[in-house]
Amino acid sequence: MRTLIENGTLVSPTDTFEADLLIENEKIAAVGRGVAFGPVDKKVDARGKYVIPGGIDVHTHMDMPFGGTTSADDFESGTRAAAFGGTTTIVDFAIQPQGGTLKAGLAQWHEKADGKAVIDYGFHMIIREVNKQALADMDDLVKREGVTSFKMFTAYPGVFFVDDASIFRALRKTGDNGGLICMHAENGPVIDVIIEEAKARGETAPAWHALTRPPRLEGEASHRVLALAEVAKVPLYIVHLSAAEALEQVRQARDRGVRAYAETCPQYLFLDHRNYEEPGFSGSKYVMSPPLRMPGNEQHLWRGLQLDDLQCVSTDHCPFCMKEKELGKGDFSKIPNGAPGVETRLYLTFEGVRSGKISLNRWVQLNSAAPAKLFGLFGRKGTLAPGADADVVVWDPEKRHTLSAKTHHMKVDYNPYEGREVVGAPTHVFSRGKLVVEGGNFLGKKGDGRFLKRALTLA
Ligand code: URP
Ligand code: ZN
Ligand code: ZN
Repeated sequence: MRTLIENGTLVSPTDTFEADLLIENEKIAAVGRGVAFGPVDKKVDARGKYVIPGGIDVHTHMDMPFGGTTSADDFESGTRAAAFGGTTTIVDFAIQPQGGTLKAGLAQWHEKADGKAVIDYGFHMIIREVNKQALADMDDLVKREGVTSFKMFTAYPGVFFVDDASIFRALRKTGDNGGLICMHAENGPVIDVIIEEAKARGETAPAWHALTRPPRLEGEASHRVLALAEVAKVPLYIVHLSAAEALEQVRQARDRGVRAYAETCPQYLFLDHRNYEEPGFSGSKYVMSPPLRMPGNEQHLWRGLQLDDLQCVSTDHCPFCMKEKELGKGDFSKIPNGAPGVETRLYLTFEGVRSGKISLNRWVQLNSAAPAKLFGLFGRKGTLAPGADADVVVWDPEKRHTLSAKTHHMKVDYNPYEGREVVGAPTHVFSRGKLVVEGGNFLGKKGDGRFLKRALTLA
């Protein structure tokens, strides 16, 4: 099968140029202008549109047991929604079962995704217990299983929390095997004390989720894990960075020469604490950790994206329907933590391009090329170069779209950006050469997504 995307404007992290792009079966075969490509089976006219590498979302939680329930999207619905939004690869978090091994957790996640995903996917591994077996398994995951990154938490005591010594042991291990530790950095034990105090005073509303997780405690935990990585002499990636205080720690670490990397998410750029004040129980829609921050904080994050102190935008897609959120009616600490976003990342961050906060090239870098490089996918994904997988999105910069639960494809009954009109939307989405979304219609197939064995960080 040969498909020619004609007359488009190709965008990479460094270049914006008019060219045609030829897809042959699963791969990008050629890029050129005024070239005779020979006979093709299908042509797509991309005049007036951008042609970009498919989005790569390196932070999703499909089918994840959490907070007394399970996230609403499974690998089928979640990857389908991703494709509708122009994302063609996800990296989801497999979880070491309580008292179990990393390999058992990996097997569970393969079972969840295999035969279901509509786009390609990889896994990180969440480590909740750093014992001898886990340290040995880390080597195997990196060297044989293509799982080259691990997430650990200084948050959620009793669920995912690990102590500093465990984090340090795991960091040292990545010094041997080349893997990358990703940290959820909030001081969970202290947050739990503040939560107890608030509950003792009778505070129940969703806003207290945020008020009991001060930004300073994200800054403190970020400082600590960056110091551990510095002493261990290994790189570190901070996930879902929300607070200016944490960004400052990343910046200082980078200035000291630490290989510190971090992502933020659209919710921290486009929503803020005022959302928790919405009437009734509506504030629960935004209960996630770290929480939304005070208005003005987002300006620091945009600056971080501009100056490369933040290298990626991911989504932390972890949706729960309102009836699940209601588990925490009357007790904010029981509201399942997480919000949807896998479908809306490119739309929202393109608003950053339109408002002049980031360039078109930076948009591609943050959403595709940089995550590919940091998470061992570059060359295959995150680029329009010949030989790469033909994960390609045709993006209409003028197309208007309203974000809404009425029209989105995520299996969740609310949209955090309900009613927001955005400008710029995908018209064609190719996953490994196959057209999976065209003009709002899904043409992909359950099970077509393949597991990606990832290489080491290329940064
Ligand atoms: O609230 C969140 N972020 N839920 C998902 C789990 C995590 O910490 O990433
Ligand atoms: Zn987290
Ligand atoms: Zn997460």
